[in-house]
Amino acid sequence: MKDKLDSNEFALWSQFLAELTGISLSEDKEYLIIERFHGLLKKYQCSNYSHLYFMAREPDRNDLREELIDHITTKETSFFRDSAPFEVLRKTVLPKLLEHCRRTGEKRRLKIWSAACSTGQEAYSLAMVLQEMGVSPQEYLIMGTDISRMAIESARHGCYNRFEVERGVPPALLERFFVFNSKNWQVKDSLKESLSFTQMPLHRPFMLPDSFDLIVCRNVAIYFSSGPRVELFNRVARHLQPHGYLLIGSTETLGDLAHLFCEVQLEPRVVFLQNADKRQVSVPCR
Ligand SMILES: C[S@@+](CC[C@H](N)C(=O)[O-])C[C@H]1O[C@@H](n2cnc3c(N)ncnc32)[C@H](O)[C@@H]1O
Repeated sequence: MKDKLDSNEFALWSQFLAELTGISLSEDKEYLIIERFHGLLKKYQCSNYSHLYFMAREPDRNDLREELIDHITTKETSFFRDSAPFEVLRKTVLPKLLEHCRRTGEKRRLKIWSAACSTGQEAYSLAMVLQEMGVSPQEYLIMGTDISRMAIESARHGCYNRFEVERGVPPALLERFFVFNSKNWQVKDSLKESLSFTQMPLHRPFMLPDSFDLIVCRNVAIYFSSGPRVELFNRVARHLQPHGYLLIGSTETLGDLAHLFCEVQLEPRVVFLQNADKRQVSVPCR
């Protein structure tokens, strides 16, 4: 089996994967195609990567395309990833947003979107922060979305191994929000309440019935090229409430998005964003 693609094969694959996922692969990332799709060659009895490519292009091969997406996406995540933003959320952002909800609507729930949530750790971390603050699940809604079917199934299941929980869940929270089921740690139903997970790609126009008080969209736009990245944040901005906050990854910068959002530095090194043009919000918050 060849362990390299020729430049024509690579061009076909990278264009196809950009269509499927928005992910932009430069030539030095060719090894990702080779390594991550290797198992699919055998599964689909393909003699080489071109064969797999043409098979995946066939209209009735949706399952194969889902598997390509599951394999090519990098799902690196952890509970309370980067820790500092969660502290700022707890101390400053969430109290402000909850206060806004209480002031503006009768029993209006705080609405949070964890966009590109991977296997769910980010969304569950947000729910843990809220419940630790004494906020009941009836006062908030958290929606987690991701393009990967496999990631969303795993997020819904909410079952994590020792290594995954040790990467961020403090012992007191582990005891409060998880049960040990002889091998893994299962998220308790009380934490799953008011939390939903939906498969949804971000690189194409999407329809969401709501706009959100808080959008957490971290470590996904880094995989997109400049055009799709700007389109993604344009769409995100339309679903952010005028008073709402957007959190991006700790290594991400605004760059060419400065016209869309303004930075709000709430703590040294932790930057949240707000809509620069508050009229952009097109979806009313119910
Ligand atoms: C590195 S993880 C980040 C997870 C989490 N936000 C965090 O920061 O810990 C990137 C996630 O983006 C998802 N993803 C990649 N392309 C996507 C797209 N076009 N639409 C939605 N999700 C996508 C991947 O499936 C993966 O779960």
